[in-house]
Amino acid sequence: MAGQKLTSNLMLGAFILYLVPFVCLAVHHPVIFVPGDGGSQIEARLNKTSSPHYMCAKKSDWFDLWLNIELMMPSAISCWADNMRLMYDKETHTSHSPPGVETRVVGWGNVSSVEYIDPSQNGYSVYFHKIADRLRKLGYKSDKNLYGAPYDFRKAPNELADFFTNMKTLVEKAYGENDNTPVILICHSMGAPNMLYFLNRQKQAWKDKYIRAMVTLAGVWAGTVRAMKVFAVGDNLGAWLISTDSIKIEERSNPSLAFLMPSEKLWSEDEILVESDNVNFTVKNISEFFNGYAYPDMSFMREDTKDLVKDLKAPGVEVYCLHGASVPTTERMVYRSFPASGPNLIYGDGDGTVNMRSLVACNKWSQEQRQPVHHLVLPHIDHLAILTDSHATEAIKKVIISITGERETSEVLEDVQNEEESARRPFIPYPGLMPRIDIV
Ligand SMILES: *[C@@H]1O[C@H](CO)[C@@H](O)[C@H](O)[C@H]1NC(C)=O
Ligand SMILES: *[C@@H]1O[C@H](CO)[C@@H](O)[C@H](O)[C@H]1NC(C)=O
Ligand SMILES: *[C@@H]1O[C@H](CO)[C@@H](O)[C@H](O)[C@H]1NC(C)=O
Ligand SMILES: *[C@@H]1O[C@H](CO)[C@@H](O)[C@H](O)[C@H]1NC(C)=O
Repeated sequence: MAGQKLTSNLMLGAFILYLVPFVCLAVHHPVIFVPGDGGSQIEARLNKTSSPHYMCAKKSDWFDLWLNIELMMPSAISCWADNMRLMYDKETHTSHSPPGVETRVVGWGNVSSVEYIDPSQNGYSVYFHKIADRLRKLGYKSDKNLYGAPYDFRKAPNELADFFTNMKTLVEKAYGENDNTPVILICHSMGAPNMLYFLNRQKQAWKDKYIRAMVTLAGVWAGTVRAMKVFAVGDNLGAWLISTDSIKIEERSNPSLAFLMPSEKLWSEDEILVESDNVNFTVKNISEFFNGYAYPDMSFMREDTKDLVKDLKAPGVEVYCLHGASVPTTERMVYRSFPASGPNLIYGDGDGTVNMRSLVACNKWSQEQRQPVHHLVLPHIDHLAILTDSHATEAIKKVIISITGERETSEVLEDVQNEEESARRPFIPYPGLMPRIDIV
């Protein structure tokens, strides 16, 4: 039905596409990019008394801890994991670096800090760069109206109070520096629920004044089963021959991983997420699942974080919710014997990282707030490709154009959807030899 309408608009779509490169925006709403898990640069400084290996440095000045591929090589990964991991304190419900390790997130406010994850700007670590580049072609300027909001992605919103305080100041600064023009937030992945948490805590008058719209790319609104897989087996970052065990130690220490577990709001207690001959687990049993790995801290972290955005309260700003689809995405894990056998993965629909039901959860707000909620599905665009694929970044550019009022939003969205559906590109998961860095 919608398909027929879309097809008949194809010619019109092509015509509009031809015109778009010549658009010169009348108004540039300042843009703040908010990254997801893994999308900020972190530096460390060491003054340790012990380390996992005699080769690991114990003392150092500030150095790049994330992302720094040299530190992820097999010979160095255990040193890296010991510096990157967090320790959980169940008395205070907070996490901190191990003794003798200091970390800091670099580049607050600066868009270049979220364009690449590796400060040396290696091509494999490209993050918001391609989208920022498209916007620069529309007249945006890095030092004028493009901003970055990096944060310690190892933590969940309950431990990011400073980030949210700084975020509010940055929004007001961007507004003020641009002739009192309201701001567009562009969030990827975990950046989306983090910004939802933030917006849920601002007054409506403040949002009306300062926020023009929130554009979310592959938002993990309600967690994903993939997070359970990351917990269970670690993620060896695809092509890199690095130790999954070291990565696992680090990943399992992150409250943000607990925050990304499937939500009880969208998964029901009769759906088996982990199946085995000896025991089955549903969303109600995620603690038992962690305990099966003798990892109780993760259960505490899950308790601390599971209700932070559980109700998915409407953000109270205009939303453009973009995400991929039709990419095989972990839906269930099947063990012969839990946990010893290790899981086989059963795939369902999603963007390769986030399950479909979580990606589309933004839709419910169209009934719950007066500000419009636009939903745009980009078939075959995987969780990270939405940041780099030329169709996806072009679509995002058009969304920004429509926000300025240069064109009708409905027209732009229909146009983008048409192109996506007509493109029918084959799905190539990880092109060439690019290492896949999993950023939830
Ligand atoms: C390093 O830690 C030791 C205690 O373990 C302390 O005495 C020393 O002052 C620290 N050095 C620096 C530079 O902070
Ligand atoms: C942003 O970071 C880049 C790269 O580190 C640097 O060259 C630039 O001066 C920074 N801009 C601001 C405004 O701090
Ligand atoms: C787990 O679920 C599967 C499929 O629903 C079922 O066949 C199996 O008996 C269950 N195992 C246990 C231990 O309940
Ligand atoms: C899973 O949770 C349900 C509901 O709380 C409980 O009845 C069941 O015993 C739990 N299963 C396991 C394996 O812990």
